[in-house]
Amino acid sequence: MSNYHIKHLEEYYQVYRKSIREPENFWEEVAEEHFMWRKKWDKVLSWDFSKPEVKWFEGAELNITENCIDRHLTTRGNKTAILFEPNSPDEPAEHITYNDLYKRVNKFANVLKAQGIKKGDRVCIYLPMIPELAISVLACARIGAIHSVVFAGFSSSALATRINDSDCKMVITSDGSYRGAKSIDLKGIVDDALEDCPGVNSVLVAKRINSDIAMKEGRDFWLQPLLDEASGECQAEIMKAEDPLFILYTSGSTGKPKGMVHTTAGYMVYTAYTFKNVFQYREEDIYWCTADVGWITGHSYIVYGPLANGATSVMFEGVPSYPDFGRFWEIVEKHKVTQFYTAPTAIRALAKEGVGYLDKFDLSSVKVLGTVGEPINEEAWHWYDDNVGKKKAPIVDTWWQTETGGIMITPIPFVTPTKPTYATLPFIGIQPALMDENGQEIKGNQVDGRLCIKFPWPSMARTIWGNHQRYKDTYFSAYDNKYFTGDGALRDEVGYYRITGRVDDVIIVSGHNLGTAPIEDAINEHPAVSESAIVGFPHDIKGNALYGYVTLKEFGETRDHNNLRKEINQLITEQIGPIAKLDKIQFTAGLPKTRSGKIMRRILRKIASKDISNLGDTSTLLNPEVVQDIIDHAK
Ligand code: WT7
Repeated sequence: MSNYHIKHLEEYYQVYRKSIREPENFWEEVAEEHFMWRKKWDKVLSWDFSKPEVKWFEGAELNITENCIDRHLTTRGNKTAILFEPNSPDEPAEHITYNDLYKRVNKFANVLKAQGIKKGDRVCIYLPMIPELAISVLACARIGAIHSVVFAGFSSSALATRINDSDCKMVITSDGSYRGAKSIDLKGIVDDALEDCPGVNSVLVAKRINSDIAMKEGRDFWLQPLLDEASGECQAEIMKAEDPLFILYTSGSTGKPKGMVHTTAGYMVYTAYTFKNVFQYREEDIYWCTADVGWITGHSYIVYGPLANGATSVMFEGVPSYPDFGRFWEIVEKHKVTQFYTAPTAIRALAKEGVGYLDKFDLSSVKVLGTVGEPINEEAWHWYDDNVGKKKAPIVDTWWQTETGGIMITPIPFVTPTKPTYATLPFIGIQPALMDENGQEIKGNQVDGRLCIKFPWPSMARTIWGNHQRYKDTYFSAYDNKYFTGDGALRDEVGYYRITGRVDDVIIVSGHNLGTAPIEDAINEHPAVSESAIVGFPHDIKGNALYGYVTLKEFGETRDHNNLRKEINQLITEQIGPIAKLDKIQFTAGLPKTRSGKIMRRILRKIASKDISNLGDTSTLLNPEVVQDIIDHAK
């Protein structure tokens, strides 16, 4: 027996030990017993972190959609697979059963084929949180096309960069999207992006807001008529275990976004297994993750993980504040949600509005609460525990990354005793290590260091699309023979982990991963700007907000350039998206630099956080005098 479902702490330790001592036997049993294979593997694992190269279940053949849909049809055909809750509470929810999903995915897959999409082709999906998003993802997987979902809050230029980086042939979008009281012209954004994307031959457009949009003859097609004509049967393409399943972009601390490549078999096994255990999922549950499918959380824990377990996964189109701050709780009551998985930033925003919105609704169906995306502060943790879980629903603080594909450090509810702000223990098969500045592993407890992973796990990203060297440099070069996460962490006296935050130039704002370099590049495009540096500072709701130090070509008398502030944020919105806008902009005469010309962000970070008591040694700076000037005029 593979211990697919862990039920108590002793069992966790026992299974964990086995997964470390005999990883190949352990994962082979899980894979063997719980999935549908067209052909079994020849070798469970081969790996070499120095190349780096990792292969799981080599030789195996499968299609992930047969695991997420087909195999459930005999036992769960009429069960709801995707429960779509629209933006407006006045629009009825849609229950898409496994039978419906089968038909809709197969039809969509046939449409893709008719448009000339073949195995291995890249398809960009730029859709709001409507059923077509999950369906198009699965339709790509059905025919072996590699999906690249781009979050529909990214700007046209960010979209174009991502489309071109992976040479997508097609874009799937909609006529628009609803977000609270607003509607957004998504097709217009796609049209702008495609001015710079010569490789895109066709655009499929789903109807959502019935807006009057321009359709380019020969390139743009309304989706519905094509689906109406397509057959509801499409044979699943047989994929190799290590064939790419999708690309998902994540910000890097420098340069352009990184297209993380996830492959088929290992990703499926790990997301399904973590879903089952981290949410203690049971057949009758109604599971809701509030993330967007545009992020890894949505890929792994709205679509693939839940569906591989035959679960009902709620997909919510809207926002927590519309029509008011009770919307989440209304949905929990309406659908009797049993597992609720959200981000600390949402919890803080809701907590600020008070418990009045919660008290109106019956939340007694909730068994497990989850958080993800950034460290959760103690106050938010307790608010969640007291008011949403009523102290009866354990909180799983799940640490992981786009790169890891699945949850890595987390409590298992009803199994691992929780501790506020701690992600607690490594999940089965995960071997964390804390490293010191000299590259040595720090053993023992009550220590802190940089978080690495020592051994491969099935859902790790295999490369960066088109740039394997960058994959090696970013993740496997800081420490010998280890995957470096970019996060700092501490390990307490019992071995629980607490993630302390990024140790590189990535800033997490409202749970969104933002690299400083692309934002600085956007600002520097302004003709008046000579240089800029972005740092994070603590923010009550967003966790971190962005503070920009900007030097101008002509500094002049005044430091209040309000128009310029607006223009800078406008540029950022155009280049990246509104999520990367700066909360504070300070115009400065210069930026503190080392003698080699490197900006000393450490000092800027401290000033932005109003923590100037201990700025450290500034004597090595090329221009120490600017520091006082920056402090004097800090925002
Ligand atoms: C970074 C990865 C994994 C899905 C969402 C984010 C931070 C994530 C936690 C947590 C503290 C967390 C880390 C990580 N992070 N979860 N539970 N506690 N920090 O994916 O956009 O790839 O971001 O998010 O800093 O490295 P991502």
